[in-house]
Amino acid sequence: MTFNSAEEKRSYVNEMFGRIAQRYDLMNKIMTAGQDARWRKLVIKAANLPSQGRLLDIATGTGDIAFEALRLHPDLSLAVGADFTLPMMQVGQSRNKGLPVRWSAADTLYLPFPDAHFDAVVSGFLLRNVVNVRQALLEQTRVCRSGGRVVILEIPRPADTLFGSLFKLYFHRVVPVVGGIISGQKDAYSYLPASADAFLRPDELKTEMERVGLGNARYRMLMMNTVALHTGEK
Ligand SMILES: C[S@@+](CC[C@H](N)C(=O)[O-])C[C@H]1O[C@@H](n2cnc3c(N)ncnc32)[C@H](O)[C@@H]1O
Repeated sequence: MTFNSAEEKRSYVNEMFGRIAQRYDLMNKIMTAGQDARWRKLVIKAANLPSQGRLLDIATGTGDIAFEALRLHPDLSLAVGADFTLPMMQVGQSRNKGLPVRWSAADTLYLPFPDAHFDAVVSGFLLRNVVNVRQALLEQTRVCRSGGRVVILEIPRPADTLFGSLFKLYFHRVVPVVGGIISGQKDAYSYLPASADAFLRPDELKTEMERVGLGNARYRMLMMNTVALHTGEK
């Protein structure tokens, strides 16, 4: 899947997530065999939130990372879930299990928050979708306080290994068919593997994090090296 301009990609991503919002959570569980819930816990652990901490979950979608944060840290003083696709957040709001997520309409490239506002800024499966990764990282770093953490969960470009090729086969052949059946939106689940193919490798994303000034940038691989969890410190 190719886009002729940054604006074309941005509009496609925004509109496409609106179309799959109702079936997004179900399809995630099927695709990851339920592992996605465990990864979200790891994101919150990596965020190293202090008591009474302030968290931004950018590209919160249906809010699962923000919900998990409030479950693990009920004393958070602020948990913002922000996204530019309102139907995703509306699904999250309708499933909100009484947890005080503060929902916010926001584009990750222009965050509507003051400098150093959060103790941690986390994201799940966002960066592949943005038209300017550097700008997204700069904004996440800007709104994070000094000493705070930026944590990124993402599907990197598959490795050039036998397993990487098998994963690509699954991702390109199986996921669009299953996603099409579950959501009725096959193109969305063809975009998913295409966006991973076009994304950075884990060491490249680590370098990008260092370039925006994040220290001690590191990552660990999950799900047989198909998902990466990056952490950096401001
Ligand atoms: C794959 S979903 C991930 C949702 C959630 N974080 C999770 O872990 O399930 C990607 C989300 O990123 C959001 N998104 C993509 N580009 C964005 C941008 N520029 N600004 C804000 N949100 C964006 C989409 O609307 C979508 O909700």
